[in-house]
Amino acid sequence: MIWLIGCKGMLGSEVAKQLDEKKLAWVGTDREVDITDPQALLDFTNKIETAAYFPSDLPHNDRKIKWIINCSAYTNVDKAEEEPELAEKLNVTGPLNIARTARSIGAKLIHISTDYVFDGKGTSPYTEELPKAPLGVYGRTKAAGEDAIMKEMNTYYIIRTAWLYGFDGRNFVYTMTKLMNSHESIRVVNDQKGTPTFACDLASVILRFIDKNDNAKSFFGKNSAPAYGIYHFTNAGQTNWHAFAQEIYKLGRKFGRITQDCRVEPCTTEEYGAAVERPAYSVLSKEKITKALKLKIPDWQNSLEKFMKNERFNPL
Ligand SMILES: NC(=O)c1ccc[n+]([C@@H]2O[C@H](COP(=O)([O-])OP(=O)(O)OC[C@H]3O[C@@H](n4cnc5c(N)ncnc54)[C@H](OP(=O)(O)O)[C@@H]3O)[C@@H](O)[C@H]2O)c1
Repeated sequence: MIWLIGCKGMLGSEVAKQLDEKKLAWVGTDREVDITDPQALLDFTNKIETAAYFPSDLPHNDRKIKWIINCSAYTNVDKAEEEPELAEKLNVTGPLNIARTARSIGAKLIHISTDYVFDGKGTSPYTEELPKAPLGVYGRTKAAGEDAIMKEMNTYYIIRTAWLYGFDGRNFVYTMTKLMNSHESIRVVNDQKGTPTFACDLASVILRFIDKNDNAKSFFGKNSAPAYGIYHFTNAGQTNWHAFAQEIYKLGRKFGRITQDCRVEPCTTEEYGAAVERPAYSVLSKEKITKALKLKIPDWQNSLEKFMKNERFNPL
């Protein structure tokens, strides 16, 4: 049994969909099982592993939670500066509670982290072992959440990702699409480099970690399990927010998502004046994950095209 925490979020809902497609035994929770409350987590594991919770014909050995996937988090980068205590509770105490629960029931943990653990002053893709140097509250709390898990248990995979977008949630692609449909011109910063990540691609990587471990139920082919630890995953290639927006405009026009002309003008971060300093360079190296999972990572433009032409595309 897989327990997906944060199953209603942008990434969580994609993981949920793929778990269903693969017909894996899983259960999902979101706010109703509060990650900041350790007793709530423990109570839930007890409920799951008893027959009473599942009156269905699920065999008893499928009720044992072998994996926890944590997609819950405090993700609002700007608001985190105003609510540092809440960000800390969700991004540090929550993962610590989840790691303790996982350890107590002998489950493995997959946890999601971020490129914001780095300061972005680098000039070549960040590898997993480089020292963390977060700039703001969000990055600091996510970095501390990683540390809490690593101190608490050994059987974890922490996957750092960046510039995430998916069908069910607020994200840059939806925001740009809405703005481009309502403005004659928009300005987007061109001095922050990184790589977008399609939530579908990340969700399939998460399931691949599980498959590589539980290869009795292999759907990708039998392989040895990757070593526990930190891995980086985004789509392939690199860009900046302005070039990303230009690609959104091009594809949006092509697939009828954007129905009027809009000029996409570049500007600098300083001209734009954001509330929180963001990493100027946050390209993550995918060498480690590519080798460990034998991945062929799709280019960010190809994944963006898949996203924008999909019938589930629906700017909220
Ligand atoms: N979005 C990005 O660009 C990005 C980039 C890099 C890394 N990441 C990481 O990727 C992961 C997934 O991000 P996402 O954008 O999919 O997040 P998201 O859409 O904000 O989803 C997080 C989910 O957790 C739920 N949640 C909040 N408080 C909770 C609590 N106390 N107990 C249980 N669940 C709670 C949220 O509910 P509510 O919606 O009701 O609050 C939401 O359903 C996160 O770890 C994030 O840090 C995201």
